[in-house]
Amino acid sequence: MIARLALRLLPALVAAHAAVYFKEEFSDGDGWTQRWVESKHKSDYGKFTLTAGKFYGDAEKSKGIQTSQGGHFYAQSARFEPFSNKDKTLVIQFTVKHEQSIDCGGGYIKLFPSSLDQSDMHGESEYNIMFGPDICGPPTKKVHVIFSYNGKNVQINKDIRCKDDVHTHLYTLIVRPDNTYEVKIDNSKVESGSLEDDWDFLPPKKIKDPDAKKPEDWDERAKIDDPEDTKPEDWDKAEHIPDPDAVKPEDWDEEMDGEWEPPMIQNPEYKGEWKPRQIDNPDYKGKWVHPEIDNPDYNPDLNLYKYDDHGVIGLDLWQVKHGTIFDNFLITDDEKYAEEHGNETWGAIKDAEKKMKEQQDEEERKKQEEEDKKRKEEGGDDEAEEEEEEEDDDEEKVEIMDTDMEEDEKTIKDEL
Ligand SMILES: *[C@@H]1O[C@H](CO)[C@@H](O)[C@H](O)[C@H]1NC(C)=O
Repeated sequence: MIARLALRLLPALVAAHAAVYFKEEFSDGDGWTQRWVESKHKSDYGKFTLTAGKFYGDAEKSKGIQTSQGGHFYAQSARFEPFSNKDKTLVIQFTVKHEQSIDCGGGYIKLFPSSLDQSDMHGESEYNIMFGPDICGPPTKKVHVIFSYNGKNVQINKDIRCKDDVHTHLYTLIVRPDNTYEVKIDNSKVESGSLEDDWDFLPPKKIKDPDAKKPEDWDERAKIDDPEDTKPEDWDKAEHIPDPDAVKPEDWDEEMDGEWEPPMIQNPEYKGEWKPRQIDNPDYKGKWVHPEIDNPDYNPDLNLYKYDDHGVIGLDLWQVKHGTIFDNFLITDDEKYAEEHGNETWGAIKDAEKKMKEQQDEEERKKQEEEDKKRKEEGGDDEAEEEEEEEDDDEEKVEIMDTDMEEDEKTIKDEL
């Protein structure tokens, strides 16, 4: 109880000027299970488990919630004191670590209005903002930034690539009251601009004048045939001619073989189709540009950035291969504070995490090398025997995997 109270007070102490609407670092053991709610919309959502993963920068700080079952939907959400981002900057930030080498799966959050029924959250639940990485095979490796606007979900029309390695990455979305935005990955800007330009919220400012038409005599041809140029009289020559060097074979029998004809060859004098010389068109007027007028349907909206009510953050995902760890959620009105918090969380563990992974890979490589060596020594010179042995090994591996899977299934059943 005291721990939870301290956790609530902490943000106010760290950032005197920043409003921290939500912060979750999963640093109090099972505490998060009291703050996060699993939807009951479906009965078989995948489970999240608290872990730092297979490799990490800090055994405690790196703990986040990890998707633990492949081929599952996930639906978890956490509530906070509702707020409006009117006249304020909104920053949404969190870390994602696809340590499983993800093939297909979401890594994004949704920010919902406080009216969301968490126990019934599902893929069609109305949200305000969806943000974060999404990977599915080589073609889809992008960062979604979707805003709900007048009941429609509007996707950014720029392509922002997400990280697809196994390490922890920091994703940040900043939306400002001057209707500009910025997306950062690992505390570096990867995209920015104006909301109006980069989303199709509004109809275009200008449209083509429906009353304007290209004049009939508008000449768009830069070059024309030279009217002075004529085809030379000796131009037309056959493309193929009988080979003048061919001679009738001596044993040619006209009665048996028919009349002898020399084979045809390409005519060296053949010039192809005649085309007149090209000259600049004296009447050329350039490409006709359709004149534009102000769009009568366009009405500016100075409040594109604004939502009256944010109240729930949720993970509503599908994952084919599980193992993604989410951590360090932060929703604030202060860009600088968010950057600092990113430095203190992601920034503080990233190098050590990389190092641990490299060490594990190195150990794995050495082990593999030793096994290969051993196998060679035991196998001796008899290659057939060696091959057979390798095949046996493969079978063994498959068997081990099968047992693993059975165990997985068993735990799933136990949990249900
Ligand atoms: C975050 O870390 C980067 C790199 O060390 C540094 O340049 C930046 O000033 C830091 N930001 C804050 C707000 O402390």
